[in-house]
Amino acid sequence: MTRSSNFLISFLLFFLVYRVEAKPNLRVAALGDSVASGEGTLYGLTYNPCYTTSPNYAIQYLRTIWNGPTDLHPHWLGPYPECHRSPFASVFQLPFYVNQTKASVEVFNFACTGGAIHNGLLEPQLSKNATLSQLQQLVDSWSAISWSDDDIPILVLSFGADDGQPTPLDEIAAVVKQAYDQYIAQILVDTAIYQVSLDVGVSLQNVLNTIQQLNLSTSSLTSTRVFTSSEYVKAISYLKGNVSAAIHKMPHIIVQTYYSPLNPTNENNLLQCPDMAGLVNNSTKITQIKQLLEELNSKVLTAATDSSSYVNDIRELMKHHEYCSGHEEWAYGPTVSLEEDIETIFSEVPILAALGPVAPQGNYGVSAFHPVPAAQSRIAEYLWHTIEKDILI
Ligand SMILES: *[C@@H]1O[C@H](CO)[C@@H](O)[C@H](O)[C@H]1NC(C)=O
Ligand SMILES: *[C@@H]1O[C@H](CO)[C@@H](O)[C@H](O)[C@H]1NC(C)=O
Ligand SMILES: *[C@@H]1O[C@H](CO)[C@@H](O)[C@H](O)[C@H]1NC(C)=O
Ligand SMILES: *[C@@H]1O[C@H](CO)[C@@H](O)[C@H](O)[C@H]1NC(C)=O
Ligand SMILES: *[C@@H]1O[C@H](CO)[C@@H](O)[C@H](O)[C@H]1NC(C)=O
Ligand SMILES: *[C@@H]1O[C@H](CO)[C@@H](O)[C@H](O)[C@H]1NC(C)=O
Repeated sequence: MTRSSNFLISFLLFFLVYRVEAKPNLRVAALGDSVASGEGTLYGLTYNPCYTTSPNYAIQYLRTIWNGPTDLHPHWLGPYPECHRSPFASVFQLPFYVNQTKASVEVFNFACTGGAIHNGLLEPQLSKNATLSQLQQLVDSWSAISWSDDDIPILVLSFGADDGQPTPLDEIAAVVKQAYDQYIAQILVDTAIYQVSLDVGVSLQNVLNTIQQLNLSTSSLTSTRVFTSSEYVKAISYLKGNVSAAIHKMPHIIVQTYYSPLNPTNENNLLQCPDMAGLVNNSTKITQIKQLLEELNSKVLTAATDSSSYVNDIRELMKHHEYCSGHEEWAYGPTVSLEEDIETIFSEVPILAALGPVAPQGNYGVSAFHPVPAAQSRIAEYLWHTIEKDILI
């Protein structure tokens, strides 16, 4: 046998073995809303484990549990920066969890903060300057690459929080805002009384006027929910139809539930937790938020069943990392959404500002309730286990 035929044989052998042992290559695209885009994760807000609790709740409020931000205007990924796509988004962390002996992976993120089915997924999200729908971005991207037998298309959907009228998120935000309004009003009244007694020149009436101005008109919510699970089912069938037409393979669909950032056990200790301070002593409001989350998740789960999709069930994601759990919080707290208001209050009521360091400055309202990078990476870990269990058999 000649040397060159030896080469040929080993080459053929290698090719044969290679073909037999070819690993699946996962192509995973995230579609959906701010949880999927990675909203909030680039401001450099970090949990401060040393925040001070104080029996004086005005002071307590000011002892921020969030350090930062370190970057007021972070560089979000293109082509639509206003979508707030972040390298910390769970899909971009998936490669760290995929067992390389079982599969290789390529990842894509088309999600956009605020993304809804008819405003982002199937139609362009013009409010974020996105000129193409997420579906179109996906089809454009995936039809430009070649697909072999080993490539497995997977779409991960985080949808529902921004769908419907009012959206579940609107309702949750309204409950939280109402709670904080009452809380801040109480702080201001107490402080104003204190100031008046010190004769530092800020009248109670001035303070109350400030609260009036801060009272944003988000309270016009109706209780009619037009969104239903059947909307998801239709959208999922469009996704399957368009993607399979573009790449000649049927994509696997994984829908994702929403986590609860609320501590299930210690509602009576809320006074220790600045991020829950506005909800202190009102378990009605906490119950209301939990019910909204459950309603949202039940719609997501119904849609998954009705469309024969898989579920990345992250409902327990925050376990032991909820607000007020005593451990690092894995969702940015509601306090980060109040800074703009707080700044205004401080300019009106200087004595408050003198009490101590202020929570992050600027408007970080978009970050509240969103997963921190550690939680995004945990979502990636869940996602790998879902793929391993349901798709790789
Ligand atoms: C990766 O998969 C291989 C093959 O199934 C297995 O032996 C190994 O334990 C897995 N590694 C991890 C970290 O799960
Ligand atoms: C978004 O579009 C508006 C209107 O065209 C424009 O004024 C604004 O600068 C755009 N924002 C970014 C970040 O490109
Ligand atoms: C804020 O608005 C709500 C609803 O319009 C109203 O009931 C409440 O009294 C207002 N609060 C303040 C402090 O003005
Ligand atoms: C593709 O999606 C559009 C909605 O964006 C839908 O009208 C159309 O029917 C879908 N095509 C297929 C083949 O599913
Ligand atoms: C909440 O309730 C506790 C116990 O009833 C009480 O001591 C505390 O002052 C209340 N806090 C607020 C902010 O109303
Ligand atoms: C608790 O919340 C409910 C629902 O928002 C509200 O009607 C009630 O007035 C609140 N109670 C207190 C003590 O703030």
